[in-house]
Amino acid sequence: MRVHVADHPLITHKLTVLRDERTPSAVFRQLTEELVTLLAYEATRGVRVEEVDIRTPVTETRGVRIATPRPIVVPILRAGLGMLEGMVKLIPTAEVGFLGMVRNEETLEPSTYAERLPDDLSDRQCFVLDPMLATGGSLGAAIDFLFARGAQDVTAICLLAAPEGVEAIHQQVGDRDVTLVLGSLDERLNEKGYIVPGLGDAGDRLYGTV
Ligand code: URA
Repeated sequence: MRVHVADHPLITHKLTVLRDERTPSAVFRQLTEELVTLLAYEATRGVRVEEVDIRTPVTETRGVRIATPRPIVVPILRAGLGMLEGMVKLIPTAEVGFLGMVRNEETLEPSTYAERLPDDLSDRQCFVLDPMLATGGSLGAAIDFLFARGAQDVTAICLLAAPEGVEAIHQQVGDRDVTLVLGSLDERLNEKGYIVPGLGDAGDRLYGTV
């Protein structure tokens, strides 16, 4: 598994405003979109391309375009939805699927409550959007789900992560082709499962509701 932690003053600046509890939902949504676009630039470094012949006003030349089958972007509901615009802005030809994951309060295992994805993901590069990698439960389940459908590789984009969550995903994915692209690797999880220092509940801060 590869882990890439963003190291750029613009990203750290925007994350600092995002973390601030005084930042209102509208600004939080806007900043999330901007941050995802910046992280998506790094996350798509390995996107598959194919060569294409074109003609400029000056001459014939050869370039590349994003290969088919097209990459698929998968926000994890609910908070991952707040990341979708920022991602498709950078890669508008991607397909979009949805995964809703919820934790079963009896077994504590994450389960899928909603899913809108092609049955066959063979050969597909998948980009999962999940703002907070905390325990790794829902992201891990989403990654398993995509590989079970045949995904070729999975890149997860997270605004913040706890070391505990990164380690859990690392243990779970084994030698499968997984990349984590993180805005920040924070200090730890607290006893309530929140990332510290974190930004609180990402869904609530995005949408202002519970
Ligand atoms: N999910 C959140 O929204 N925030 C956290 O800190 C952890 C999980």
